Amino acid sequence: MLTLLQTPASPFARKVRMVAIVRGVPLALEEAKVDPAKRNASLGALNPLAKIPVLIAPEGPIYDSRAICRYIDAKGEGAGLYAGPDVWAILRLEALADGIMDAAVIARYELAIRPGNLVWQDWAAAQFARIEAALDCLEARTEDLQTLHMGTIGLAAALEYLDFRHPKLHWRKRRPVLAKWLEGEAATERMQCTRYSAF
Ligand code: BEZ
Repeated sequence: MLTLLQTPASPFARKVRMVAIVRGVPLALEEAKVDPAKRNASLGALNPLAKIPVLIAPEGPIYDSRAICRYIDAKGEGAGLYAGPDVWAILRLEALADGIMDAAVIARYELAIRPGNLVWQDWAAAQFARIEAALDCLEARTEDLQTLHMGTIGLAAALEYLDFRHPKLHWRKRRPVLAKWLEGEAATERMQCTRYSAF
């Protein structure tokens, strides 16, 4: 069986777990210790970047989350999560979702983990500006969210990460369409079985 090194608080790992559920590919989950200021040497032996998630596959360790999603998708049957009439729309949405996750994780580290006297507020604000702009763009183009594909899976994981780590952002305020869309996603098995938890 494939083993995923991950943590239940990572949006990138959640996206991978969701893909595995959707594609019917069983995964053994192994929790890895992650500290942004301290290298995890055993993780580093698998991925020189010492970042999760890492998939232990017969071909060798696979990273990052995009490569893992591609790998798992290819193991499933039938048309996968990258198939559709407009593959560029799927990839664009996947990139936007990953970008929201990136900015949200950076802001989380800046505001919650960095010692208070060293927090760089402008840096955190720049991350939130990225997130806000991405969400505005998505609210205006919800036609890309009507089917299940890699982009919609990533976006659902990204939006619930905002709820999990940045509830004061109140991202739903000006985005009723996205909010309604996430309500539908949140009820699915793939979302219910992969909820975030702090470690
Ligand atoms: C978090 O605690 O928010 C987190 C942990 C690992 C990776 C990304 C985010």
